[in-house]
Amino acid sequence: MALLGFSRRVLLQSTSRISSALRPYSASEEPVVCTLIPGDGIGPEISAAVQQIVDASGAPIKWEERNVTAIKGPGGKWVIPADAEESIKKNKVGLKGPLATPIAKGHPSMNLLLRKTFGLYANVRPCVSVEGFETPYDDVDIVTIRENTEGEYSGIEHTVVDGVVQSIKLITETASRNVAEFAFDYARQNGRKNVTAVHKANIMRMSDGLFLRCCRETAEANRDIKFNEMYLDTVCLNIVQDPNQFDVLVMPNLYGDILSDLCAGLIGGLGVTPSGNIGDNGVALFESVHGTAPDIAGKDLANPTALLLSCVMMLKHLGQMSYGKRIEQACYDAIKDKKSRTKDLGGDATCSVFTNEVCNRVRDL
Ligand code: NAI
Repeated sequence: MALLGFSRRVLLQSTSRISSALRPYSASEEPVVCTLIPGDGIGPEISAAVQQIVDASGAPIKWEERNVTAIKGPGGKWVIPADAEESIKKNKVGLKGPLATPIAKGHPSMNLLLRKTFGLYANVRPCVSVEGFETPYDDVDIVTIRENTEGEYSGIEHTVVDGVVQSIKLITETASRNVAEFAFDYARQNGRKNVTAVHKANIMRMSDGLFLRCCRETAEANRDIKFNEMYLDTVCLNIVQDPNQFDVLVMPNLYGDILSDLCAGLIGGLGVTPSGNIGDNGVALFESVHGTAPDIAGKDLANPTALLLSCVMMLKHLGQMSYGKRIEQACYDAIKDKKSRTKDLGGDATCSVFTNEVCNRVRDL
């Protein structure tokens, strides 16, 4: 199973501010080839910023850039371009900027298409308070793990009769077990103590009931990690009262979509929240969770932090811990220092100013 191949790596260490003994860059290190999908809108600007910072850190990464625009393949089916698909399949690791979904009849969401193409069954988002950036909470350290392929987002909808539509929530044992196993694996590899399954099995007895059963059975096989289960509404209530009580949360697709944004809101928004998508055959695609921000695209105003921290997750996934930690620290230090904060974080710096500041700090660390 894909999960097993994945769990052998160091992987997806949640963002931490622990500085480590830094491994000096060695010119002899073989660069790792990673697919880079710059994306649309602000995507190319923030991707260029991330490349600049990775270069400054000396991390041995070689980017293979691919554009992703949906095209119609054989039989009129929407597919992603062959060169992008091949690159991701070959490299098994990639960094992705935001992708626009054209509001045109029949055009698929590119993000959904990528999830389907690579079986990206788990979305992981560490939400950690950004030191020095004030929000109503200063002690958030939660990881949301969202089933990424089914549930209400299966895309099975039809009209029953005029004025009545039906949307199918699809839950399978395979996908539920995969994401549950991933959550426990993740918790163990990242020194976390507790996994909470978030559900509404009191209402959706069969679908959420199956998801919950898979979580319970997985918990039985992973008794070194504490397990509890909680209704989605109770989690929402408790999380805004005291986020500190939560550790790793695992849940079906729709709940994950909503709750992961709520958690991002606790730490300052989508501009500072990274994520990773874990897929079949060891594929891992890291991405910022915000959109293409068309209102500020091309104006040098975007905050590259979310994509940069996603890149940090990618470096840790590749075992390049020291580079990841150095970039992460430089990024947090630059935000803490205030003078080079971008507009969305209350400052007036441009994307370039912030990027240069992080580059200088990363070189000095
Ligand atoms: P959005 O996230 O692009 O923008 C919402 C607001 O946040 C805007 O005011 C924008 O300027 C600001 N913002 C977002 N990212 C920022 C950054 N890095 N730095 C500074 N400000 C930032 O959401 P919206 O407007 O709903 O979506 C625009 C497009 O993005 C749509 O085509 C949508 O489908 C796509 N999208 C793609 C996603 C992805 O690829 N993961 C996720 C969400 C939306």
